[in-house]
Amino acid sequence: MNSSALAKTILADYKKQIDPLLVEFFQGQKAQIPTSLKYAHQMLNNLEDFCTRGGKRLRPALVYYGYKLLGGDESKDILKASLAMELIHTFLLIHDDIMDESDFRRGKTTMHKIYKAECETVYRANGNSQRFGETMGILAGDLSFCLAFELLLSSDFSPELKTQVMQKLQDTVTNTIFGQELDVRLEFNGSSKPSEILSVYKLKTAQYTFECPLHIGAMLAGATQKDLETISNFAIPGGIAFQIRDDILGMFGDKKHTGKPVGSDIKQGKQTLLIAKALQKAGKIDRKRIKAALGNKELDENGIRKIQSIIRKTGALAECERVAKKHIDQAKQALSKFSKHNWDKDIIKKLDNIADFIVERKV
Ligand code: IPE
Ligand code: IPE
Ligand code: MG
Ligand code: MG
Repeated sequence: MNSSALAKTILADYKKQIDPLLVEFFQGQKAQIPTSLKYAHQMLNNLEDFCTRGGKRLRPALVYYGYKLLGGDESKDILKASLAMELIHTFLLIHDDIMDESDFRRGKTTMHKIYKAECETVYRANGNSQRFGETMGILAGDLSFCLAFELLLSSDFSPELKTQVMQKLQDTVTNTIFGQELDVRLEFNGSSKPSEILSVYKLKTAQYTFECPLHIGAMLAGATQKDLETISNFAIPGGIAFQIRDDILGMFGDKKHTGKPVGSDIKQGKQTLLIAKALQKAGKIDRKRIKAALGNKELDENGIRKIQSIIRKTGALAECERVAKKHIDQAKQALSKFSKHNWDKDIIKKLDNIADFIVERKV
């Protein structure tokens, strides 16, 4: 099995362990709420479905492996604490789908669209179903955020460690918010430089997807500030590569695997690295074609195929693959220094597999 395939089994094994805990957690939450509060139950059910319908569990897996890397005690509630990271991710995804006006996530209807449809059947013409859907989506995302802290607080780590982890989560979500703001501002601005885009990727994705999970795991196992810095040297480039791959999959992936429709970034008018590079490299006519496609909600399959071919032809796709690979090489270089520490060799190998998976993945 090659390195990336090994990573897939590593993540699948972790998912098998964690998903029953996730379901158990939701059952516990529902049990605490009186049955008379039927919409609270409905929201928890919607959230549970959103969490369990798919997802790679990369972030909580990194919490777990960050913990094991530094030799954390297996008898502690690390799996439970790691799930907090997945619920933070869920919150960010639900809100992201509102901001990006996305209809599909993990192969099914996005949270705000589920509620929009409900509004249309239940309340019929009594109001604006878009607003209803987005309102409920915001609330479901907020609920997920709150439940993340519930999971962390109910774990058996010391109050000091839990406070440290909460501080890390606060800082990380704050940066993610600033990253999401810039992402949408670039979209509205209609143009951007590759360097700006990469700094948005660091803020909106790399920190919460890679750095924060590994830090939290390592902190719970007693990491020092110096240890965390060593981990960041791996995590930040790894996380940037993750987002570049996300953009490539968004334009060239298979909906069956990604659960997201191809070309939605271009229809939304997103400034991705792929688009910025294509605009830089294209001739006048192709540049015009890209600009006309950006933000065109009516763009059909044929129109998307034309943009795909421009992105290939200009070499923008190959260049983005190179930039992603460069970041992964940098991450792996930093990872090779982990062996100077007295850290778990088997986990270092697993992180190396995960790094390869990031740029080769189809999901
Ligand atoms: C999607 O993340 C959002 C990004 C930060 C790019 P994932 O690709 O990890 O989503 P799931 O959890 O596997 O669905
Ligand atoms: C997701 O970014 C970042 C966060 C959820 C914070 P994208 O908008 O690029 O991710 P997808 O493609 O919708 O998953
Ligand atoms: Mg987005
Ligand atoms: Mg999005």
